[in-house]
Amino acid sequence: MQKNYGVKFTAFSSALPSVVVKNNDLEKLFSTSDEWIYTRTGIRERRVVSDKESGLSLSVDAANKTLAKAKVDPKDLDLIIVATTTPDKLYPSMSCMLQGKIGAKNSFCFDLSAACSGFIYGITTAAQYIYNGECKNILLVGVDIHSRFIDWSERSVAVLFGDGAGAVLIQRCLAKDDELMCHSLHTESDVDLDLTLPNENILYPNHKNEICPDFVKMNGKAVYQFAVRVVPDVVNKILNKVNLTPKEIDYLVLHQANQRIIDTVSEKLKFNKTQVVSNIEKVGNTSAASIPLVIADSIEKKILKAPCKMLLVGFGAGLTWGGLLINWQGDS
Ligand SMILES: CC(C)(COP(=O)(O)OP(=O)(O)OC[C@H]1O[C@@H](n2cnc3c(N)ncnc32)[C@H](O)[C@@H]1OP(=O)(O)O)[C@@H](O)C(=O)NCCC(=O)NCCS
Repeated sequence: MQKNYGVKFTAFSSALPSVVVKNNDLEKLFSTSDEWIYTRTGIRERRVVSDKESGLSLSVDAANKTLAKAKVDPKDLDLIIVATTTPDKLYPSMSCMLQGKIGAKNSFCFDLSAACSGFIYGITTAAQYIYNGECKNILLVGVDIHSRFIDWSERSVAVLFGDGAGAVLIQRCLAKDDELMCHSLHTESDVDLDLTLPNENILYPNHKNEICPDFVKMNGKAVYQFAVRVVPDVVNKILNKVNLTPKEIDYLVLHQANQRIIDTVSEKLKFNKTQVVSNIEKVGNTSAASIPLVIADSIEKKILKAPCKMLLVGFGAGLTWGGLLINWQGDS
C-alpha cells in the first residue's frame, strides 16, 4: 500500500496505583513463598488499586502525563483508544469517560478488547487512522486492574497480576519518517478456555439477585506453552518481513507476563540479555498496560534510548498475539 502519511510515537507515559503488594504479603493469604513466586515468575511485588483509585483514574493520570510531555492540547486529539478487558463500566466505554476527564472534546473514542495483546492491536488500529488521513493525533491507553477480578485465595493466579496503565501519543508525520516498520497480528480461538474471565451475571441471568464472582481462570501450563510457541514465531515473521537479524534490533519488548517466558523466548531467538527490557519484578503482569509501562519505565531509567529499533510483542487471552517493529526517533 502506498502510504500518504507516516506514524510517529511522540511520548510514552505510565501510571501505577498506590498500594504495593509484596510476595511476603501473599504468604498471609495462602500457602506460598517469595522464593516460589520469584523463581517461577520473576515477580517480587505488584501494585493494586486502592478504594479511591480505578482503571479510569490510572488512565487519566497516564494520559495527562503523555499529553504534557508531548505538549499537545487535549482538544487537538482526534481519536482516543483504550485497550482494556477490565473496564470500570460495560458502558460508557473507558475511552468515552477518559475523553470527558481530560477535556478532549474533539475526539471520537472507542475501547479495544484484546487482553494482553491490546496495546499491540491498538497501535496497529491507530496507525490505520493515520495512514488513511482521518487523524493527526491519537491517544492510545493500555489499562487493566485485574486485582478486582482475581480470587485472592487462588494461588496459581493471584501471584501473577498487578494493576497499571500506560499511554502513548501517536501522531501523523511525513510518510518517509514512518516509525512503524511492520506489524503482524494473530488470533486462535481459545476453545479450551485456558485463559478466561467469565461474565457470570450474563451467563446466569436467573441469579440476578446474587452477586456472582467474576474471576480469572487460567491453565498456567497451557498458557506458558502457547506463549513460548507463538512469540518466537511472530518475532521471526517480523524479522523476515524487514530482512533484519536479532543483532540489528536494539530492544526486544515482550509482554511482561512471566520472566521465565521472557527468558525462554529471548534465548530461543538468540537475543542477548542487554537487548531485553523487563520490569515485571516490580509490577507483575499488568495485561494491556504492560508494554507501554515497561517502555515508559525503561525510558525514564535511561535503559531504553532513542534512536532505536524496538520490537514489541504482546500475547494473551483470546488467544491473541501480535508484534510490531518501531524505528523510534525519540520523544518530540
Ligand atoms: C502459573 C505458573 C507460574 C505455574 O508454574 P508451574 O511450574 O506451571 O506450576 P504448576 O502449575 O505445575 O504447579 C506446581 C505446584 O506448585 C503449586 N503452586 C501453584 N501456585 C503456587 C504458589 N503461588 N505458591 C506455591 N505453590 C504453588 C501447585 O499447586 C503445584 O503443586 P502440586 O505439584 O503439589 O500439585 C506457570 O504455569 C506460568 O507462568 N504460566 C503462564 C501464566 C501466564 O503467563 N499467564 C498470563 C498470560 S497473558
